[in-house]
Amino acid sequence: MKKNQPLAHLNGLSPDEFLRVHWQKKPLLVRNAFPDFAAPLTAAEIFELAGRDEAESRLIVNKNNEWGIHHGPITKKILRDAKKSLWTVLVQDTQHFSREAHQLLQQFRFIPTARIDDLMVSYAVKGGGVGPHFDSYDVFLLQGEGKRRWQISAQRDLSLVPDHALKIMANFKAEKEWVLETGDMLYLPPGYAHHGVAETDCVTWSIGFRAPTELELSHAYLDFLRDEISPEGLYQDADLEVTRNPGAIDLDMQSRLVKILSRVTHASATPDMMKRFAGRYFTEPKSHIYFDAPKATMSAQTFSQKIIARGVALDLKTRLLFVDILFFINGEDLAVPSKDRPIWRTLANVRKLSADEVTQLSENSFSLLQNLVNDGYLHIG
Ligand code: SIN
Ligand code: CO
Repeated sequence: MKKNQPLAHLNGLSPDEFLRVHWQKKPLLVRNAFPDFAAPLTAAEIFELAGRDEAESRLIVNKNNEWGIHHGPITKKILRDAKKSLWTVLVQDTQHFSREAHQLLQQFRFIPTARIDDLMVSYAVKGGGVGPHFDSYDVFLLQGEGKRRWQISAQRDLSLVPDHALKIMANFKAEKEWVLETGDMLYLPPGYAHHGVAETDCVTWSIGFRAPTELELSHAYLDFLRDEISPEGLYQDADLEVTRNPGAIDLDMQSRLVKILSRVTHASATPDMMKRFAGRYFTEPKSHIYFDAPKATMSAQTFSQKIIARGVALDLKTRLLFVDILFFINGEDLAVPSKDRPIWRTLANVRKLSADEVTQLSENSFSLLQNLVNDGYLHIG
């Protein structure tokens, strides 16, 4: 994707204009965003995926205005039982299971990978939906097969129906509405109230973004620091003086503590710590994700011949990012040879390397690539 060309799926705006005017600010309706939209998964494939252990799925049912939720795997029996109600099946992270879903997500690469969460899909029967709600992240709602009526509202009152397993807004008041047909798309900033009801049986694809709370980030950073910082030594006070207040933590003791703890606060404030934290944090796979190692390993020589001929590609589930000269893959540090950094950056940006690009790498990079293939993080060709 050229960096700042107008894009049909941004209503003819360039990514730059879209980011300036709409991103995190205001909705954008794009009719015919993807004129030849080809569904990455059929309805049958969506149900099959929803029934698998390794996929994260939900079933939302609405019977006489009573909402219910089942967490996946959504078996055929659960689906059959839902048939008497209005229901929606949702599956997260379809880009991990379908190359086409993965390709679709790449259309949004004008936003940093670290900010992209997943491509979720929902299948709803006519009249189905997940109720009026708001999300804490930006979302592009792309209509697949069928039609869905979207109502949206910039309302401030975001109160929820109390004591409910689902986040349903108590006082949703639609301000605008449209019926989206196949290939149409609606962008919504975080916290924007919306309510989608299937006009026909329909499929909706949601490009969702990642917005950790500051609390979540801070706690993750504290966990990271706990592992990184290992000061040695013991609390000592050889110059201790007699005290008349044995019940007090006195000024002497306080200043000894300040001295010890300042090593922690000092280390925590260095840019290097932040970079290493960010790299690991944003590449850490979700907890249920596993990588399949190849059944057979090959000699270094065979491996080199193969990748020189066919190039390499990241596994659909792999997250590879760089922070300046540091590289991270699936939550781990990656020691990339300094002369090869530009090509590894290409791999992080476009998720694959051509045979030509591979040829320019050093031997150390070859063995690094082979380790990644053995971990199931990367594939030949
Ligand atoms: C859906 O596809 O039914 C829900 C998507 C959303 O509202 O974020
Ligand atoms: Co939503």
